Amino acid sequence: MKKILSPSILAADFGYLKEEIEKTSAAGAAYLHFDVMDGLFVPSISFGMPVLQSIKKYTDQVMDVHLMIQEPIRYVEDFASAGADIITVHYEACENLKETIAKIRAVGKKVGVSIKPGTPVTVIEEFLTDIDMLLIMTVEPGFGGQSFIPESLERIKEAREIMEKNARQIDIEVDGGIYLHNIEEVLAAGANVIVAGSAVFKGDAMKNVKDFMEIFGE
Ligand code: DX5
Ligand code: ZN
Repeated sequence: MKKILSPSILAADFGYLKEEIEKTSAAGAAYLHFDVMDGLFVPSISFGMPVLQSIKKYTDQVMDVHLMIQEPIRYVEDFASAGADIITVHYEACENLKETIAKIRAVGKKVGVSIKPGTPVTVIEEFLTDIDMLLIMTVEPGFGGQSFIPESLERIKEAREIMEKNARQIDIEVDGGIYLHNIEEVLAAGANVIVAGSAVFKGDAMKNVKDFMEIFGE
């Protein structure tokens, strides 16, 4: 499956957000990752529709929106109108996941479902055929700059096996603590959409993205 980098703007300097994003796009990052946090589902608060709306004007990257919010069905339409291309919701945050997935479909966007590190991978079997992307969190959601949870590698492999068994191979996105030093084992385990915040935006974003692209061989 195509390897895709999705830089998380959570780690960017918001005083230079447009310039930083343009560097990631010029260097080959096809997606841009928006970590939306509500202070309820996760302990932190990040940003919402207005930021997405303004950034959408400056880049043609795929807007990869990660809703770390309680009962995300309430905001699916708002994020779709603000410019989301992919809307990813948390399995643990939805009263009715099937209904939430249907709502994202109804607004014509791609559907992602994310599971936290403590949620068994086996839960994906019930909705695998309904979604376009599975996001396996490789840190506890809520903050950038955390360390990669090593058990995540087994979880990625387990997800690929479940997809194999169900003859339904879809994108597996991973998010949290991914750097040049651990990206190869993450790819080897079966992930193909890579979220990187600190690894891209702490330092020279253009060079950092190019380094990932080189490893991707894209
Ligand atoms: C956690 C966030 C982070 C962020 C990326 O809720 O979702 O994982 O995107 O963080 P780093 O800086 O580790 O790439
Ligand atoms: Zn994220």
